[in-house]
Amino acid sequence: MAPRVLFISPSFPVEMTYFTEGLAAVGAKVVGVGEHPKEALPERCKAALTNYVRVSSLFDEDRALKEIVAEVKAAGVSFDRVETLWEPTVLLAAKLREALGVPGLRVAQALPFRDKELMKRKLDAAGVRTPRHAACSDEASIRAAAERIGYPLCIKPIAGAGSADTHRVDDRADLERVLQLVRRVPTVSVEEFIEGREFTFDSICAGGRPLFYNIAWYRPKPLIARTVEWISPQVVALRNPDAPELAGGRAMGLKVLQALEFEAGFTHMEWFLKDDGEVVFGEIGARVGGARLIDQMNFVHDADLYRGWAEAVCYGRLSEPLNRRYNAAVVFKRAQGQGTIRRITGLGTYLARYGQHVACLDLLPVGAQRRNWLQTLISDGYAIVRHPDLQSCLTLADRFGTDVQLYAS
Ligand SMILES: Nc1ncnc2c1ncn2[C@@H]1O[C@H](COP(=O)(O)OP(=O)(O)OP(=O)(O)O)[C@@H](O)[C@H]1O
Ligand SMILES: [Mg+2]
Repeated sequence: MAPRVLFISPSFPVEMTYFTEGLAAVGAKVVGVGEHPKEALPERCKAALTNYVRVSSLFDEDRALKEIVAEVKAAGVSFDRVETLWEPTVLLAAKLREALGVPGLRVAQALPFRDKELMKRKLDAAGVRTPRHAACSDEASIRAAAERIGYPLCIKPIAGAGSADTHRVDDRADLERVLQLVRRVPTVSVEEFIEGREFTFDSICAGGRPLFYNIAWYRPKPLIARTVEWISPQVVALRNPDAPELAGGRAMGLKVLQALEFEAGFTHMEWFLKDDGEVVFGEIGARVGGARLIDQMNFVHDADLYRGWAEAVCYGRLSEPLNRRYNAAVVFKRAQGQGTIRRITGLGTYLARYGQHVACLDLLPVGAQRRNWLQTLISDGYAIVRHPDLQSCLTLADRFGTDVQLYAS
């Protein structure tokens, strides 16, 4: 019988439509859950859904839970899976599994993926190297934690996303400045600041086992990419995640999945590689990485991991052969100036020279309003470039960053 999947947020963020299609493609009956009217969903999403439950708000978890459970019970249907790949609905999915008696991550297992303090405590207990840390809800405890942990520090929200309200603190005087900035954050995580390169460890799991993993390299690290506007940030999905210098991060990734009892679906972990070779945990989400990382992973293998994920959660396997062919780098562009994009320079020359290596190009057109780069890593558009050789891939990405410019006014 076709697996029946309750899929929360089937068309937002945009790539979710492709996951919905992936589920339908592997033969699942998909019931979407979202706050928009069904008519407002993208056509492709609608076509892949068997049914749809509309809730008043996905952010009012308890209310959404009641509404969904009532509708499911009234319809007399049962589900084999409850899935989501969008961070804010990870807990709702766990609550629904418990309420509807569906296997998969329970609330107790989902919480450590949403609470950075709980996450690190569980990992400390399992012997994973995390930054020294404390959760603090008032100024006095932040000051005390700072003295205990030592400078430099990182202060960030306990349930943050997109590096919002995340600050480096260099000394006591700097702490006074940052205390003002985080005054409205109810609980912050105070951490030892880790210097080093930053990577992801992404996986698709089923039955508590990873079926696939990926390592991507942030150039530069997200905190810098999100604070310096002129940079064209890159994320490079590596062709060879089994390289010896990444062994520590790979081992940590596998250990973290076990320690957190992750069951099935995508995960997205971030970790640091210090200059002395030490590997330190960053954070993990029970979801796919954002900002086109899924497309990069697809371009590395010439694969369809939207469908691969669907197969994994529905049938516990990933049958598409995954041969690593390329390094795939995404490069995000930010226009110079404010307002409307007026001019794009260097693109023709770049494409004439390197076009064969460009897997995907999606820049805002001339005439479009600039996006807020602080709110979306996608910024004013991006290219995904790929090459079998890592150094060549980095050069392609660097040239796109420097040679292609957007101007707004
Ligand atoms: N302890 C730390 N030491 C050094 N840098 C850190 C530390 N914690 C966070 N950072 C930097 O801040 C960035 C954002 O932190 P983190 O990933 O915890 O938060 P987030 O807002 O959930 O991130 P995302 O952008 O992935 O949603 C990290 O990618 C890293 O560059
Ligand atoms: Mg992060």
